[in-house]
Formats: sequence, C-alpha cells, structure tokens
Amino acid sequence: MATYEHRLAENEDNPSIVERIEVRPWRLGGKSHQEFVVGGGSNFDASGNILVEIIYSVNDVQIFYTRNFIHHIDYGLPVLEDDDWIEKFRNGERDGYGFGDMLPETSIFFQREKQPYKDANNEDQFHINYSLEISADTGAIFGKAGPGQRSIEIKIKHISIEDGIEFMRQLTEEIDSLSLEKHPDPADIPSGSSDWPFARLVNQKAYDKIAMNYSEDYFSESPLTEIFDAWLKDIPTGGHILDVGCGHGQPVIARLLEKGYTVSGADLSPKMLEKAKDRFPNVSFVNQLASEMTYESEFDGACSLSSLLYLDPIDLSHSLYRIYHALKPNGFLFLHAYDLHPRWRGEPYQVDIKEWMWVWTYGMDEAVQALEEHGYFKVLKAQDVTPEEEKHAGIERWYNGAKEWYEEHIKQFPASPYPAPDINKAPRLSYKYGIIAQRRAKEA
Ligand SMILES: C[S@@+](CC[C@H](N)C(=O)[O-])C[C@H]1O[C@@H](n2cnc3c(N)ncnc32)[C@H](O)[C@@H]1O
Repeated sequence: MATYEHRLAENEDNPSIVERIEVRPWRLGGKSHQEFVVGGGSNFDASGNILVEIIYSVNDVQIFYTRNFIHHIDYGLPVLEDDDWIEKFRNGERDGYGFGDMLPETSIFFQREKQPYKDANNEDQFHINYSLEISADTGAIFGKAGPGQRSIEIKIKHISIEDGIEFMRQLTEEIDSLSLEKHPDPADIPSGSSDWPFARLVNQKAYDKIAMNYSEDYFSESPLTEIFDAWLKDIPTGGHILDVGCGHGQPVIARLLEKGYTVSGADLSPKMLEKAKDRFPNVSFVNQLASEMTYESEFDGACSLSSLLYLDPIDLSHSLYRIYHALKPNGFLFLHAYDLHPRWRGEPYQVDIKEWMWVWTYGMDEAVQALEEHGYFKVLKAQDVTPEEEKHAGIERWYNGAKEWYEEHIKQFPASPYPAPDINKAPRLSYKYGIIAQRRAKEA
C-alpha cells in the first residue's frame, strides 16, 4: 500500500494527530482479449486495468474510503521504471508525473505548482509548492454520468518533494508487482480497513428485495449435482458445514441436512435470513458479510453457491481468507458460479437480477487463481458444469443473433469482408462452473 503520512507533533495541550492517505492497488483479472466496460463505454484490454482502494484517515480512523479504477496501466511507462523521470522532476524539467491518462478513471499525480508573486523590488517571483492529487471519477462508475463529469478529489498540498516521490515510488512498485500477478495478501491488510458501506448496503438492499422470489434448482442439473456430491464425499458424515452467502437456504441447506450434516449459514441479507430461519429453525445463522466472519477452525466443509464469486476482487480476497480461517486444516470448500459474460470484464455497478448491485464476474481460471495465489487453498477439481442442453441453446441463441446482425450488415455493405457467422465457431459463451478446494494446513 502506498502511504503518505503527516504527523502533527504533540504539545503540552494536544496529543499528536496523524493524517494518512493510502492507495492500495488490486489486479482485476481479465484477459487482453476481453473488453473492459465501465460507465456505459467499452474499450481497452481488460488485463490493463486495476482497482484501487483510496483511504483517508485521521488517527487511524477512516474518514473517507472509496474504490475506483485506474485504466490503461501500461507496464512499460517510463514513470514505472525510469529514474530519469524523477531526476527530471527534481531538476525542474518536468512539473509532474503519475498515473491516469484516460477518463473515466482515478488519476494520481505528484506535481509542482508555481504561484507567482511580486517581491519587494516588484520583481516576478514564484512560490513553489508540491502537491499530491488523487481524483476518482465516480460519476461514470456509480452515477452513470459522462466521463469526468463527477469526481472526488483529494489534494494534499505543501508536501515535501521527498515525501511525494516516496509515495509515488511505493505506488509504482505495487502496481508493478500486480503485473507479476502478485496481489495484496489479505493477511497483511489491517482488519476492517477495506470495509466499504457502499457495496454492502447496495447489495443488501437488492438481495433483501429479491428474497421473496429468489429460487434456484441446482440439483435438477446432473453435472452440478455430481461435483457437489463429490465434494461431500470427503467430509465426514455428521460433519459441520458452513454455507456462505446461504440466502434462504433452499435447496443447498436442505440437501446438506438431508445428508446428515450439521449446517451453519452466513448471509448479508436479513430478509434472506428471515426466510432461512423459518425454514430451518435448527440451523444457526449469522447476518454477516463473508469478509467479516470470525470463525476459527470450526468447519469440516464450507460452500458458497452463486454468492462469493460475484464479489469484486477486494471483497473476494478478504472473504476467501475468512473462509480459510473458518475451515479446519484440510477442510473442503465448494464454490459454484456463472461466468456471465466471458467476453468482457468491468462495470461493477450494474443491474443484476433486476436490481442495482456492486458485482464482479470471474472465469473458472480466475477463481482458481484467487483460491491458490496466497497458498490458502489447493484446488482439487475445477469443472465446467453447464448442462449440454444449455450449452447448445446458448450457441443457438448466439448464432441466431449473429446471423440477424450479419444479414443486416451485408445488406448495407455488400462488399464487407466481415465473415458470416459459423455455428461451429461460437465464441466462449456464459458457462457455469464448480470448484472443490482444500484448505491448506499452514497457519496464516
Ligand atoms: C444469488 S444469492 C444465492 C443464495 C444461495 N447461496 C443459493 O445459491 O441459493 C446470493 C446471496 O449471497 C448473499 N451475499 C452477497 N454478498 C455477500 C457477502 N459479501 N457476504 C455474505 N453474503 C453475501 C446475498 O445476500 C444472497 O443471499
């Protein structure tokens, strides 16, 4: 985490004040062939974007927190590697450097500002100030305003050149390490420092609203049922299983109870839990985010279906870490999700199940990486569980749509070199997957 800290020394009457601005970058996953979508626009290659946490605190109490993107991180930018840039900044050949050259996005710049004044002899002079400026484009992400129309800006003025350069050096190093697939390890992050009321409340509101009508029918699908039951085979009969993001518990908790397990559930939505408690009065439930669960080595197994793999990379990482703690060493985890749109990543604030939510999507490979990257889990099995009929129906839908588009296109541009769609060459369409993983024995 890149940190700038300003300390007002204590005196006889006042204890000291520590003001801190922190920027914590996270990699988003995504591949170069995927588009990155944000704020209604889509461009860039999805692998070149990062998510940042921006945290402003006084005396270790957060007074401001948000998440936003930096787009278009080009890992070869001179600012990342070339000390010459810093030298040019120091000697006045350049007046600033930083990240963020596109909209909508976060920009982070360290700059020299010259304020003109007349001295006693009426000669032109300059005051030189150094400032660190962080600007998060919120409009395009949350408010659906145009790029650059809404932003939250934090400006730290009058900082020393050395402090500013050091902040930028730390940030550069962190962004650079993301390019090597090194993401923040949740064990190193102070507890609670990624809490974000926005994502929590917007999702809670949505899930509360859909609680009455939400229904899943997982076990009518044989590939999903097979992998779910394969996960259970390794969990001792009567063992204790935690369902994370359990919703109202139907059909997953019902199946676990039928098979003789003891079950506990955790969920963000009080309304989902009201229904779950009515249905399963002997199951214990907690109304918590996965990322704030405090269980320690209590469960033989844990599962999460259609819940965790829709969290953004920050919440997913913290949640997996809390599940690691909740499981006994060598305990087994089952995850299930859809990769809803394999052709793009981005747009975390979107309408999902007809409600605004803060959500993300992972491919199976990305989910596997999130589980394994810090050594907390070993993936035993990862499998596409889309039923064959659903795959065929998906391809047919894609083909019909593509054919319709093509026929219109060729009418307008008869000489177009664009090839007609081929049903045998369908792109990767949305698919469902299941993952069985085992908690590694190591202590965090
Ligand atoms: C799509 S529903 C799935 C419910 C259930 N697992 C199922 O498959 O039927 C997602 C559930 O995850 C819960 N949820 C979303 N984010 C969560 C989080 N960060 N921590 C805990 N629960 C969460 C929601 O409240 C909702 O009940």
